[in-house]
Amino acid sequence: MATRQTLTLAKPDDWHLHLRDGEVMAAVLPQTTRCFARAMVMPNLHPPIATVEQAVAYRGRILAALPPGVRFTPLMALYLSDAFDAAQVAQASRSGCVHGVKLYPKGIATAGQPGVSAIERCYPALAAMEEHDLPLLVHGEVTSTLVDIFDRERTFLDETLAPLVARFPRLRIVLEHISTTEAVRFVEQAPPNVAATVTVHHMLMNRNSLFEGGIRPHHYCIPVLKRESHRAEVLRAATSGNPKFFLGTDSAPHLRHTKENACGCAGAFTAHAAIELYAEAFEMAGALDRLEGFASHHGADFYRLPRNTETITLERGQWPVAERIAVGEAGEIVPLRAGGTVAWRLCAAGAQPA
Ligand code: DOR
Ligand code: ZN
Ligand code: ZN
Repeated sequence: MATRQTLTLAKPDDWHLHLRDGEVMAAVLPQTTRCFARAMVMPNLHPPIATVEQAVAYRGRILAALPPGVRFTPLMALYLSDAFDAAQVAQASRSGCVHGVKLYPKGIATAGQPGVSAIERCYPALAAMEEHDLPLLVHGEVTSTLVDIFDRERTFLDETLAPLVARFPRLRIVLEHISTTEAVRFVEQAPPNVAATVTVHHMLMNRNSLFEGGIRPHHYCIPVLKRESHRAEVLRAATSGNPKFFLGTDSAPHLRHTKENACGCAGAFTAHAAIELYAEAFEMAGALDRLEGFASHHGADFYRLPRNTETITLERGQWPVAERIAVGEAGEIVPLRAGGTVAWRLCAAGAQPA
């Protein structure tokens, strides 16, 4: 069979994205809007987006920061904490702009953020979410320092997620940024109301990438990259065509000096080449024909939103990734593959490939 040179797919959505706010948001937003129609915007700001009013205001700031003429729909997620008020749930589901509530276990989160100290404290809110059919988005890792960092996702499945799925059988749950064979298995075996997002860095890289010739702070994210057998299994699941798995970049902007630091932040910035890198991953798995389902259909179907009708086209062709993305006066972000190349290229909107 001839090697495929172009690929046209319904415009994708990013079901897990960090945009931050202010200058950083202005710098990263065009990277996402160049190829995604919608994105689920994470609420872990300082302070977190914890109320519908805050989500509406944040959404307004995102829309105001869009490049002129660009169509893009931010989908908002609220931040769950012990203090989360179940009354917010009804208001959120009526709002039309809040599409999920995000659980960060206490201690996972960036310093100074509350997170959830004990899931039982959130049972009233979760019961209300089940009632109103508002999805729960989960950062699925335990935070005990007694649990090995490579086992934190697996342990969370047993200790927290399995009981949660059993207790709230109708609650729609998205296990975010899965990184292990155990998470793949958990989602595959769970009922249809449990799904997962998959990042491109967890599909393409294993934990050796953290130590290639020296320590690589720009490859440090959470969940931390795992051994090769896990990467291969995550890639297999994402490219299998199973509608439980869909695209969520977890593209996470951090300024260079906060990552190249004695205590560097977790997060990989991938929005600048997201759909192109996913195309590389699907090609590696011999599954380019399944990219559209993963990137453009499965997530919309799970969230019960219409599929996008516009299309994008990718063409085969190497292009160089910038060394840095400037962030106003504040500094710069080092994108994944900085100074390297990517094998697929996004054609300009409306342009036909040569
Ligand atoms: O690596 C990560 N960075 N993982 C997360 O879950 C959060 C994110 C961030 O906000 O920077
Ligand atoms: Zn997370
Ligand atoms: Zn995230």
